[in-house]
Amino acid sequence: MDGKTAVILAAGAGTRMKSDRPKVLHEVMGRSMVSHVISQVRRAGADSITAVIGHGADVVRKALSGENVTFAVQEEQLGTGHAVMQALDRIPGTGDVFILCGDTPLITAETLTAFAEYHAAQEAVLTVLTAEYEDPTGYGRILRDPDGGLQCIVEQKDASEEEKLVREVNAGMYCVDAAFLRETLPKITNENAQHEYYLTDLVELAVSAGQKTAAFCVDDPEEIMGVNNRVQLAAAAKVMQRRINHGHMMNGVTILDPERTYIEDGVRIGRDTEIWPGTVLRGDTEIGSGVMIGTDCILENAVIADGADVQKSVILDSSVGKDSSVGPFAYIRPGTSIGQECKVGDFVEFKNADFGDGSKASHLAYIGDADVGTDCNIGCGVIFANYDGKNKHRTVVGDRVFVGSNSNLVAPVTVHDDAFIAAGTTVTKEAPSGSLIVGRSPDKSLEGWVERKGLIRSNLHGKKTGTEPEEHE
Ligand code: UD1
Ligand code: CA
Repeated sequence: MDGKTAVILAAGAGTRMKSDRPKVLHEVMGRSMVSHVISQVRRAGADSITAVIGHGADVVRKALSGENVTFAVQEEQLGTGHAVMQALDRIPGTGDVFILCGDTPLITAETLTAFAEYHAAQEAVLTVLTAEYEDPTGYGRILRDPDGGLQCIVEQKDASEEEKLVREVNAGMYCVDAAFLRETLPKITNENAQHEYYLTDLVELAVSAGQKTAAFCVDDPEEIMGVNNRVQLAAAAKVMQRRINHGHMMNGVTILDPERTYIEDGVRIGRDTEIWPGTVLRGDTEIGSGVMIGTDCILENAVIADGADVQKSVILDSSVGKDSSVGPFAYIRPGTSIGQECKVGDFVEFKNADFGDGSKASHLAYIGDADVGTDCNIGCGVIFANYDGKNKHRTVVGDRVFVGSNSNLVAPVTVHDDAFIAAGTTVTKEAPSGSLIVGRSPDKSLEGWVERKGLIRSNLHGKKTGTEPEEHE
């Protein structure tokens, strides 16, 4: 269906979602439902796409601003037929038009393409996409004449008990001849249980005018699932999760427990990468090959290079270089770039920092607003004090710098190449290259003090201790 037009209905309130957010903006694996529909219909060849918006129009318009669609506003939501009327001036005089709903996120481009081809082959003015459900509750039912021809669609709320037994349902997706649509839409009335202008009435109007209609029944009813409430939203997300994970596994990614691994639409992963349970990969995340992503990681807009190893960590809007290891329990906040062959250990937090190749921060450190060179060692308990209570400042650390445990680097400050910061130092002045920086008061010992104060402690066996030489592990 190259160069074709599509209208996507997205004006409804979605009352059954019980939400402040317009229904079609609810997300399924990281992408709004309507955005899924837009991307699939575009892949099926539609290049002119109009979204009918109404309820929460401003929010929907904003959310879709990057999608290259035009908008038609339906001020009052008087039904699906009324919604399409609002978009009529966007529809060309001839040719075929896709009409889809914004709340069927599982439809695929492949099915839409086959649907359009079937419509063309049938030479029908209107073709309806249908599926058979074990439990068709809630959907419009497809009624056929004794010869199997499409007769009409009856909504759940208007259906007789007998009609409710019909298991073939309307997917809410149509291929329509534009001229037929222009001529017939105005004839739709709102004489039904919901007093709405039903788009589905087009079928009956075509049949009574002696025009050809057709139904295209999909094999996989999952694809047409409509989401009207949160239970269906979760069910749709489950299907999408399986599809996405299946795709990655077929591409050579090992996912140990696909049911417990959440990979959003659009995440890219290289081959021989392994992903352990409980992990969530979100947004514009790209993972190289041979990467190990352990349990319970959250990565959002993260770029992880080949061979890296990430364990139980959170990485947001940041990158990790080749063969580096992160975690467990590291928190890499936005704007951070970890180089190659780095080690970022437990309880290390980064924010808006560059960490050069081969550098290490093995445990308990905060590195914020900093440029750290290559092959540095950041000891345990080091803090880059970047905030003076009012403003944030940057710290610059050269190459091969050793920052001893429990040191503070008070920004703005520069530590030059090969400097050695002694443990417990608070650095406030520029540290020259190759120098030792010691900034702590010397400790002193008062011999016999513990005994004099009567502070001798007993060990587990009741033996006196405290005067004996200390034992270290
Ligand atoms: C609709 C179909 C039903 C089909 C089902 C498939 C009609 C009358 N019924 O029912 O046969 O089985 O979809 O999922 O068409 N919308 C507007 N403006 C409106 C009303 C709705 O833009 O005035 C939009 C909604 O935002 C939604 C879509 O149209 O994206 C479908 O509306 P909804 O109320 O969910 O229709 P259903 O009752 O599910
Ligand atoms: Ca619906």
